[in-house]
Amino acid sequence: MKGYSENYWAKRAGQYNKTNWVKNEDFIDSFLNMLPRNNFETILEVGIGTGAVANKVSERIGPLTGIDISKEMIAKIKHPDITPIVANAHDLPFEDASFELIYMRNVIHYIDDPVLAFSEIYRCLKPNGCFLFSQVVPPEDSISEEYDWLIGRNIHYPTQGEIVQLFSKYLSVDSGHFILKNQSIMNWLNNTCRDESQKQEAIDRHKNTSDSYQKLANFIENDNDILVDIKHFMVFGQKI
Ligand SMILES: C[S@@+](CC[C@H](N)C(=O)[O-])C[C@H]1O[C@@H](n2cnc3c(N)ncnc32)[C@H](O)[C@@H]1O
Repeated sequence: MKGYSENYWAKRAGQYNKTNWVKNEDFIDSFLNMLPRNNFETILEVGIGTGAVANKVSERIGPLTGIDISKEMIAKIKHPDITPIVANAHDLPFEDASFELIYMRNVIHYIDDPVLAFSEIYRCLKPNGCFLFSQVVPPEDSISEEYDWLIGRNIHYPTQGEIVQLFSKYLSVDSGHFILKNQSIMNWLNNTCRDESQKQEAIDRHKNTSDSYQKLANFIENDNDILVDIKHFMVFGQKI
C-alpha cells in the first residue's frame, strides 16, 4: 500500500474540489475531445473521486458508473445520472466486456499495481471498446527521478514512456497533452492535507529544483507563491 489509501482520501475529500486543476473546464474539455465520438451506451470511470469529469461526461455523453476506493470522495457526487460504487481498480466488480467506454484521470500514481489495474480495465471493455486516460507526468521523462523527489509523496509519477507501455495491449493508441499553466503551489499544498512544516519542506524543495526543471515548468517565484506549468499526458486506446 502506497500510504494514500482510503484514510488519506477520507481526509482530503472535503477540500478536494478546491484544488485548481480539478474542475478546470479547458482541461476537462481537452480530455473529452480526444474521444472519437460522443455516443456510448455503457460508461465506467475508474477512480471517479468527487465526479468532476463525470459531471461533464453525463452532460455530453450520458449516464455512467464510477468506482473509487473512497466512500468519502464519492459521497460528494450528487448527480442522478452517475452511479458511484466503492471498489478497487485492482479488482473491478464487473463482468468481462461490460463497457463501451472506460476512462480514468489522475489515479494511476496512487495505484499499487498499475499493470493489474490496466488488465482489469482491458477485461471489462467490450471488443473495440475505448479507454481514455489522463495522468500528470514529469515535464520530460528524463527528469522523472527529480519530479518524484520534488512532489515528495514517496510515490512514483509514471512517465509518458511507462504509460505508453501500459497501453501495449491496445490497438490504435493516440496521445496528446494538456499543460495547466501557472499553477499555484500554495493552492495545491493548502488542499492536499499538509501541516505547516510539510508545506515549508515542499516549498524548499521547489526552490531547490534544477535549472532544467525550472525552465521546463516555466517556474516563477513571487513573495507569496511559486507558479509552475503542469503537464498532463492523455492517451486514447481502443481494445483489439
Ligand atoms: C487525484 S484523485 C482523481 C479523481 C478524479 N478522477 C478526478 O480527476 O477528479 C484520485 C482518486 O483515485 C482514487 N483511488 C486511489 N486508489 C484507488 C484504487 N486502488 N482504486 C480505485 N480508486 C482509487 C482516490 O480515492 C481518489 O478519488
